[in-house]
Amino acid sequence: MALLELIKQRKSVRRFLDRPVEREKIMMCLEAARAAPSACNSQPWRFIIVDDPELKKRLCEKAFHGIYSINTFCKTAPVIVVIISEKGKFLARIGGMFRGTKYYLIDIGIAGEHFILQAEELGLGTCWIGWFKESVVKKVLDIPKEKKIDVLIALGYYDKKKVKTGHDREPLEKIASFNSYRA
Ligand SMILES: Cc1cc2nc3c(=O)[nH]c(=O)nc-3n(C[C@H](O)[C@H](O)[C@H](O)COP(=O)(O)O)c2cc1C
Repeated sequence: MALLELIKQRKSVRRFLDRPVEREKIMMCLEAARAAPSACNSQPWRFIIVDDPELKKRLCEKAFHGIYSINTFCKTAPVIVVIISEKGKFLARIGGMFRGTKYYLIDIGIAGEHFILQAEELGLGTCWIGWFKESVVKKVLDIPKEKKIDVLIALGYYDKKKVKTGHDREPLEKIASFNSYRA
């Protein structure tokens, strides 16, 4: 499938099929993420794949509780991908401080989207998850307290017929211009 077609086909999936995801497919998604560019080639990421059903259940029960319960749909996802934002290279951090830019977040975003697009190509659905109880994710997965987890990805097979097509996006004329800024 052409890349633009694949990009347009991807939609956030919030209802998953009760079907495990093959490790080989997850490895392909990880390989796509690994190939992502990053500031100073810092590669400031670690991925923890939670596909053990019991562990994933415990994680979801705790991470999407109370004010985070809007994301309880994640419990239907057979896999939760935890992306740990690592510190990155010294140069990227100093440069980022100087510029006032969190390069590591850009890096994480690119790597995560590589993962997601590869998943889409393999027929898997995903949803970025930014709203979750970080402290319990660390606790359940034995991640050191000082680490930062900015996002998760819910992953699994889904029923394509049940996902709305089309994207609600600003028109191109509004978001892009040639040669000068247009308000
Ligand atoms: C950084 C980030 C965090 C997000 N967090 C959540 C979330 O916590 N829960 C959720 O249901 N969707 C979440 N989303 C998905 C967005 O709501 C979704 O991408 C957006 O509405 C566009 O819809 P689409 O992905 O179907 O094109 C997140 C997306 C991004 C990029």
